[in-house]
Amino acid sequence: MTHFLDIHTTDPADLRAMIDAARRMKAARRDLPRGAPDDEQPLAGRMVALIFEKPSTRTRVSFDVGVRQMGGQTMVLSGADMQLGHGETIADTARVLSRYVDLVMIRTFDEAVLHEMAEHADIPVINGLTDRTHPCQIMADVMTYEEHRGPIAGRKVLWSGDGNNVCASWLQAAGQFGFDLTFTGPAQLDPEEDWIRFARDRGATVRIERDPLVAAKDADLVVTDTWVSMHDAQSARERRHNLLRPYQVNARLMAEAKPDALFMHCLPAHREEEATSDVMDGPQSVIFDEAENRLHAQKAILRWCLGV
Ligand code: CP
Ligand code: NVA
Repeated sequence: MTHFLDIHTTDPADLRAMIDAARRMKAARRDLPRGAPDDEQPLAGRMVALIFEKPSTRTRVSFDVGVRQMGGQTMVLSGADMQLGHGETIADTARVLSRYVDLVMIRTFDEAVLHEMAEHADIPVINGLTDRTHPCQIMADVMTYEEHRGPIAGRKVLWSGDGNNVCASWLQAAGQFGFDLTFTGPAQLDPEEDWIRFARDRGATVRIERDPLVAAKDADLVVTDTWVSMHDAQSARERRHNLLRPYQVNARLMAEAKPDALFMHCLPAHREEEATSDVMDGPQSVIFDEAENRLHAQKAILRWCLGV
């Protein structure tokens, strides 16, 4: 079964093929209205279940639209409304869904849920974000970087802020796509050692630098994310804000990066917190290209999973 669970567990040649396929599919739709079908309909006759145990705008809409453009059908399910949220095991849910649909995309809390779903499903499972990783986002982000600046291999990426789930997938991508990553943030919110080790073992240079202005020097790409993720306790909000305030991405920080550095944020953003509006809306920002490319990248992921 071809699941898309994480970047570090997917073959680098397959990751590259998916990015290239996404770019081709995007180009093929250049002059089509959003709702028009693709010329190719590889998902004709296929049904995809999209399960959300957390809120979503981009993941939900981009998967739904992407499947439909390729001729498939979708159903969007909220975890809380399913028996899954009322005591039915994940294994049983996986076995049942496998009798009805051709693929499951799930956004959940504990990654154990994703892995259990994949283990017991007879159909491909895609990770639409867990507390620990967000691989679909980083596939879209790598695609976006390369659209604007060419190959990401050998580039210097700066992550400023919380070493969270999105940062984890960036570290995995550093190992798989061959770029360097500097993390700047408070020691209390460092990324997991597992992901740093993975990237380093695969030959990427990973630096931890507490001074954001030193860290930003010569960066090709500056990335940040919310200071309080969906899985973080609201009671930790003030403490996190206090820790992360020095790592806001603003004009002063961007000035230390290369003059042609790009700015990325997976969104949703909290303007004037982790990033200022002048950066988010400025000429170096590609945040809405990232959002658009979720659609194209995930279409390639869906095709890879289904082998179509
Ligand atoms: N970036 C992202 O995954 O956005 P949503 O939470 O809106 O899906
Ligand atoms: N780190 C954020 C990403 C949202 C797309 C979260 O998990 O809430």
